[in-house]
Amino acid sequence: MSRLTHQFLSVALILGAAQLIRSYSFNNCIADSYSKGKGFKCINRKANNISAIISDLPPSVTNLTISLNLVRDIPINSFVSLQNLQNLRLDHNHLSNISQLAFNTLDQLHSLNLSFNNISQLHPLVFQGLYNLTFLSLTNNTLKQLPEGIFSSNLNLTTLIMGQNLLMNFSGIVASVSNLTNLKTLDLCFNSLTSLSHSNALLPTSLKVLYLCKNQLTTLGCERSFLVYINVLDLSYNSRLSTVAFQGVNLKHLNYLRLRSTSVKVVEFLNTSDIDAGRVDFSGTGLRNDSLLTELCKLLKSKVKKIKDLHLGSNSIMNLTNKTLYYCPEITRSLDLSHNQLRNTNCLTFLNRHTHIKSLNVEHNHLNSLQSCDDQTKVYVKELSYRYNRILSVSGAAFYNMPNIKTLLLNINSIAFLNRSALKGLRRLEQLRLDNNLLTDLFIDNFEDNVKLQTLNLRNNRISVIFNSTFHRLRNLTILDLGGNKITHINPSGLDGLISLSKLYLDGNNLQQVDSSFYHVFQDTLTVLDLQSNLIRFVTEATGSPFKNLSKLSDLKLDRQRPYGMTILPRAFFRGLHSLRSLYLTNNNLNDLYPDVFDDLTGLRFLNLDSCCVGVIKLRPGVFRNLRNLTDLIVENMGIQNFSKEVFGNLTQLRRLQMNRNVMQSIPVDALQSLPKLNYLDIRNIPLSCTCKNILLQNWTRYNSKVQVVYLYNLHCQSDPSIKFYNFDSKVCYIDLGEYLFFSTAAVIFLFTVSPLLYVKLYWKIKYSYYVFRSWFSEQWRRLREEEENCKYDAFISYNSSDEQWVMDQLVPNLEGNGSSFKLCLHHRDFELGRDIVDNIVSAVYSSRKTICVVSRNFLQSEWCSLEIQLASYRLFDEHRDVLLLVFLEPISERQLSTYHRMRKVMLKKTYLQWPGSDCTDPMQAQDLFWNQLRRGMRMESRLETEDGTKCVDKTEHLETSDEKYYLLP
Ligand SMILES: *[C@@H]1O[C@H](CO)[C@@H](O)[C@H](O)[C@H]1NC(C)=O
Ligand SMILES: *[C@@H]1O[C@H](CO)[C@@H](O)[C@H](O)[C@H]1NC(C)=O
Ligand SMILES: *[C@@H]1O[C@H](CO)[C@@H](O)[C@H](O)[C@H]1NC(C)=O
Repeated sequence: MSRLTHQFLSVALILGAAQLIRSYSFNNCIADSYSKGKGFKCINRKANNISAIISDLPPSVTNLTISLNLVRDIPINSFVSLQNLQNLRLDHNHLSNISQLAFNTLDQLHSLNLSFNNISQLHPLVFQGLYNLTFLSLTNNTLKQLPEGIFSSNLNLTTLIMGQNLLMNFSGIVASVSNLTNLKTLDLCFNSLTSLSHSNALLPTSLKVLYLCKNQLTTLGCERSFLVYINVLDLSYNSRLSTVAFQGVNLKHLNYLRLRSTSVKVVEFLNTSDIDAGRVDFSGTGLRNDSLLTELCKLLKSKVKKIKDLHLGSNSIMNLTNKTLYYCPEITRSLDLSHNQLRNTNCLTFLNRHTHIKSLNVEHNHLNSLQSCDDQTKVYVKELSYRYNRILSVSGAAFYNMPNIKTLLLNINSIAFLNRSALKGLRRLEQLRLDNNLLTDLFIDNFEDNVKLQTLNLRNNRISVIFNSTFHRLRNLTILDLGGNKITHINPSGLDGLISLSKLYLDGNNLQQVDSSFYHVFQDTLTVLDLQSNLIRFVTEATGSPFKNLSKLSDLKLDRQRPYGMTILPRAFFRGLHSLRSLYLTNNNLNDLYPDVFDDLTGLRFLNLDSCCVGVIKLRPGVFRNLRNLTDLIVENMGIQNFSKEVFGNLTQLRRLQMNRNVMQSIPVDALQSLPKLNYLDIRNIPLSCTCKNILLQNWTRYNSKVQVVYLYNLHCQSDPSIKFYNFDSKVCYIDLGEYLFFSTAAVIFLFTVSPLLYVKLYWKIKYSYYVFRSWFSEQWRRLREEEENCKYDAFISYNSSDEQWVMDQLVPNLEGNGSSFKLCLHHRDFELGRDIVDNIVSAVYSSRKTICVVSRNFLQSEWCSLEIQLASYRLFDEHRDVLLLVFLEPISERQLSTYHRMRKVMLKKTYLQWPGSDCTDPMQAQDLFWNQLRRGMRMESRLETEDGTKCVDKTEHLETSDEKYYLLP
């Protein structure tokens, strides 16, 4: 590549980057909505190019997950733009080739997860520069060995996980990790190590936990003090590892050693090793029968007085007698008997000497019933687990000799028969799990003694009715899980006594209604109520609120009512739930959401309405009006057609809005802008139209710097899936100002250049054409006007109301009566009522052949009159029609007229009539003459060409009184 192209490319890159930084949406990643730009997930994108995946991420990212993609290579300096990364997950890709310095510059990185890839080789400099790395996982790759010095700069590494590889050379591993002075945990399970022999290098003294399970170790083959600092050592599933392998190895400081599924003979091993016998896990060491166990116990007792935990799981033990553990040192914490073949526990009498034991695990055995333990010796165990057995029946007083039990796990069995007094005597019981059994009935006295019970789990049984007083003694119960049963109803006092209940799960039952009668018992305590997936359905919206008194309820689930959904959501259903924080209503076939249905939910933070409703739903304005604290709203797949400010505008705290799978074609930007806190918007699978309707949306999605639009660059146009929404062509929608200016400037310049030329060359021709055109045009115009003219009136009289007397007494009789039958238009008589005054004047002027202005001093001062003059003179000047007749009622000097500029112009050009006032010598004669003149004037053609002024008639009076010139009509 030449220097020039290189430079060009970098400029282009910088420009591209600048462009992208403005947007807050990402190609392949989703920002965690509450992480403030720090957490990103780029999962399952089928992407293979690492730089393409992260190219648009902001430099603020600290947590990045790129799991489940197809990335093969990580080139050098791939993450330079993300210098603040702290946690990076690249698991479940196809990584095989990681370049040296691939993670260079990530000196803030704490955790790097490269598990589940195809890495078979690592470059020695691959982790160079990761000075702060504390966690590294390379699980499930195909590494055969580690290059020397690979961790030379990762001095802070504490946890290194390299399970599930093909590592064979332990010596090489030790050499690589020996400098890691902070390493605490090293996981090498599932590899192909055959021995722990090593050259000069040693494990770091900080290393405490070493997992070597599932290798092919036959010998440890290491020097005596090699494992001296290790606390936890897992050697399980190295089937060929034998007792001799431990000879001479210092295990003094081990806290925990797993030997399961090895060939080690534990008794022999304990006799030869310096290990603290109480720290060995004896699970899976073949201690199958009484004699072996007794032998072990005796040996243990000879070495230690007390033992904290005794692990005897997976030993195929079939029976324990009262003698078996008799010789053991006292067990002070736990006994693990899981994964054996016990059929019976004989009321735990085998624990008779171990009165301080806390916990017993009998999971995964073959127990099929629990017998009555009425008169057996007491056992003081506190936690007892019988999970994963085949228990069918529990007899009365089955735990009667174990009064200290606090936690009892009977779940995942086949218990169909739980005796009424099975739990008798368990007065200290706090947690009881009976879930995943076959219980059909609960009896009134089942829990009679369990007054301390706090958690009762009865999920996934076959209970159909909750009888009265079933739980009446459980005053301390806070969690009751009855989910997944067949409950059709709860008797009126069925939940009585549960005065501390906080969480009630009734999901997956057959309840047909929300019965308010029983919620009164825990109105001040209940915080969670799960009614998901029942048979609740309403036929009328007028149902009241069953939750009215649950003042503390914060979590309510009502989604997925079977089989048809709730259908109707009663208006008052959620009344009183002021503390509710989250509400689920998905999949309910609701046919409407009343605008006031959520009104009381002022504390709601999370609302899920995904697929809540049937078909296309019209969300009513104001439906979310009181949800002032809502931060997350899911309205997916609701058939929403209109996203509008009226509906969503009040959600001032909303941060996350998921709207995918709806049917709106456009989204108004102002509605989105009315959500000030919004930062996460999911509008996938919406048939957005790529038309001018959506240009603002396009611009907003691309350039707003706050709201992330999920996978914006993958959204496509509805009309053509090959066109992406973010860049559909929107040029036609904008008037391109630049183009506009260019063309107009060009035209002006052209005219300026060409017209002088044309003027000189073609002067006469142009002038001639102009006249031809003008005459043609005025002819056309005249014809048009004449056709249009079809005057209703002969004259429109314009006058001031103070002259009304004269008009009515003199003008009207003389023109409309008295032998002459002119039709006059007078405003008080002929104006259309209710019409705008200006419109009236305009139409009066235009539908009259003449306009007679009765000019007096008052007239001149009135605004309307001047408008009338203006209109009439407009016809005079612009249409070449003389429609104006001026009648002066009193002598007005030209000076007085001078302010009425337009009027004066008319006067100078035009003739006018002067009303002979009473001071005339012969008023009657002068007035007769005046009327004649006026009638003539009105009959005259209005073409201006006929103008032909003559001299004033009333010379005597007015020519004498002033030097003004008065003209009369011919
Ligand atoms: C690393 O990835 C694996 C596989 O997906 C996952 O199980 C594990 O939790 C991850 N660990 C960390 C610390 O990210
Ligand atoms: C194991 O690794 C060490 C040190 O890296 C090396 O010297 C030795 O040759 C390797 N052994 C085998 C069998 O590869
Ligand atoms: C596009 O959005 C940006 C930023 O929000 C704004 O400044 C710009 O005026 C918008 N452009 C158009 C054509 O609306």
